[in-house]
Order: sequence, then C-alpha cells, then structure tokens
Amino acid sequence: MAPDDTDAHGRAEAITAHNPFSGNRLGFDAPSVVDARVEGRTVIVTYADSTRNTFHHQWLRHSCYSEVSGSPADGIRFTTAISFDSDIAPTSVAALDGDLAIVWNDGHTSLFGSDWLRHHAYDTAGRARRASWRPTTWRAELADHFPTVSWENACDGGEGQLRLYRTLLDYGIVCVSGLGTEPEQTEALANLLGPIHETTVYGYIYDVRAEPVAKLGAKTGMPQAPHIDDAFAYSPPGIDVFHCLHNTDIGGMSTYVDGFAIAESIRAEAPEAHELLTTVPIQHIRRHPDEIDLRFRGPLISLDEWGNTRGIRYFDRAMAPLDVDPDLVEPMYDAIREYNRRMVDPAFVAEIRVSPGDGMLIDNHRVMHGRTAFDPSSGRHIRLCHVPRDEFHGRWRELARRLAPADHDLHLPQGSLT
Ligand SMILES: [Fe+2]
Repeated sequence: MAPDDTDAHGRAEAITAHNPFSGNRLGFDAPSVVDARVEGRTVIVTYADSTRNTFHHQWLRHSCYSEVSGSPADGIRFTTAISFDSDIAPTSVAALDGDLAIVWNDGHTSLFGSDWLRHHAYDTAGRARRASWRPTTWRAELADHFPTVSWENACDGGEGQLRLYRTLLDYGIVCVSGLGTEPEQTEALANLLGPIHETTVYGYIYDVRAEPVAKLGAKTGMPQAPHIDDAFAYSPPGIDVFHCLHNTDIGGMSTYVDGFAIAESIRAEAPEAHELLTTVPIQHIRRHPDEIDLRFRGPLISLDEWGNTRGIRYFDRAMAPLDVDPDLVEPMYDAIREYNRRMVDPAFVAEIRVSPGDGMLIDNHRVMHGRTAFDPSSGRHIRLCHVPRDEFHGRWRELARRLAPADHDLHLPQGSLT
C-alpha cells in the first residue's frame, strides 16, 4: 500500500480518526535526550540522567511511527522491512527539544520521544526489565487470605479494576465478592476481561449443577480432582469465569492448586522429571461419540524463552494413552506422578467454600480447579464460561498504560504451548 494511494488514504483517514496519532511517544515522564551520535551502524543516545542506549539504524528506521511511516497502533503501516536497505543510515542525528531527531539518507525524517526510546531499549537492562514479571506462587495457605476484590471495585474502570487484573495476573486466581446471584451477572463479570469464548463442550455459558442425564462429570455430585479445563483443545480456555448462584453446606468445597508452584517444586526436587514434563508430549482427548473428537499433544509444563513456566496442561481424566518412545513410558509415568502427587497434596491444595453471589476468575493455563463431592439434590449451582487470556492481558496493558505505565510492557506468561 503506497502512501500516495488515494483510495487507501481515504480508508486510512477513517481509521486514524479513531486512533489519534501518537508517533514514537508514550506520554510518560522520562529524562530528555541530551545527546545523540552515530557510531558504526548504530546511534548512541544519552539522556539527562547520563544513562545511554544504543539503537541500530535499521531498528530505528523500521520502528519509526511517523505519520508517513504508519504505526502498529491502528495497523496502518507503510514502512516494512523491505522499505529500506540494510545499509540505511542517518545523514544527521540530534537531540531536539528532548527528543531524538534523525534525517535519513533516503530523505525520511524521524522523531523519537525519550520515554518511547527508554521503554523499548534492548540493552541487557531493558530486556531484563521487560522479562522481570514473576508470578506470586502459593500453596494451601492461600485459603486463609484468599485474594478478593469486590464487584463494586472490580467494575470501577480505574484503580479497582486494575487491582482485579493485577491480582489475577499475580496469583492466577481472584474471588470477586458481592457479584450477586442474578444469572446475567455471569456475563457481566466475564466481559470485564473480554468476550466469552464459546466451545462445543461448554457452549456459551455452562451450568455446573447435578442433572439426571449428565454428559460431563461436572454435572454430577461426584468429586472432581484438580484439572485444567479442556486440556485437549489446541487453544484451551484462557480464564475460567465461575459464578456461584447456590451452594451447599455439606461438601461441594472448591479446590484450587497453583500449577506454577508445583512446576517450581518439581524443578527443584525432581529435575529429571521436570526435564521430561517440559519436553516430552502427553496427549489429551475428549470424544463425544458422533459429535466431536478433540485431541492435543504437548508438554504438561510449558516453558518460555527464559526457562520460566508459561503454562500448565494436565487433566488426567482426559489423558489419552501415552504415545512415546517405549523407553520413555516408565520414566514418563514417574514424572507425571511427581506432578499428580503434589496436585492432590493437602500442602498444595487451597480449599474454600464459595459463597452464593461470588465470582471466581481463574487462569486456566496455570491454576487447576476441582471440588469435593456434594449431594446432587442440594441444588448447588455454579455458572461457568471462559474468556481468552490474550483478551484479558490486552485489557490489562491498556489499563496499566493509563494507571501504572511502568509495568504495561512486561512480558506476561503466554500460556501452555499450542
Ligand atoms: Fe473444570
């Protein structure tokens, strides 16, 4: 798409009207650029606090979000990796009113705000900062001080909502108190995080209650061991949204386990099992005869590029027969037991009774959920739906950008491998 394409520009203007131009600026307070100089194929920038960053010419040219270049903010982008040659170079660089100003040898000009440069710097410190997010892992004692945000605060569009998001990010679970027992509140709670993800197994919103003809174990009074929902799906549900309409006083306790805490425990205490669980695929399956046969192969524990846990995928009731090298069958069973033993160990399981009118948000790629048995005639009724994790993380970044900008670009765990 060329910048002088009249038709393209007509459409572009309609879109940019809804996305005010921001260029290479974030709008944060940051020390000004006070000096800039070329060294080899890079530009070295010095800020008012005497710190420096180095940026490659190509990186700066490709990252220019001028009105002519376009911006990822609205997806209208004219500059691509083949818009310039690898030897693109500045004809001049300068500190201009606290910004970095560059005139390029292809005639283009760029202006970079110091806040944008510092936030995107890819030196060791900058990369370490963006990779610094860590989960707050927990064990059974979470039940004594369960992370909770009131519904009134959660939907305030400001600090309360940010606290809800941050708690869910850090703990992988948060209770929303005072949601109410009106069924429509299930969707209202889900929509705080994003649109509902409809699936064949659960539909749009799923009623977890005992029914005479149950298609899933959830619709009985049987106990449910901790599990990840739909571990057999290519994209398993992201955030479980539970809404308790009616509970029972006998049984029906909710059980939660932090899969990230288990993964770290195995890494420390059984490193050979950790190696197998992060590299050898297991397979999950869900088949409803004459309807659907869902399958996924992948590791039980997924790691990110830094070796940190990014996701858990384990649902023993839905595990297919192991399909691995015969030499790995017995070591894999030993490794899976390392996980399963901890998953049901009272030291790891936080058990609480969810009150009617309360909601529970759970990161389904991290925190496993289950329940103890209950009387099927008790009327226990929980509504359930799912929201994709990327929709939630996307909303968190935009709210954080407004209220806690230093954190908004941290790399978050992207979930189990898909
Ligand atoms: Fe479940």
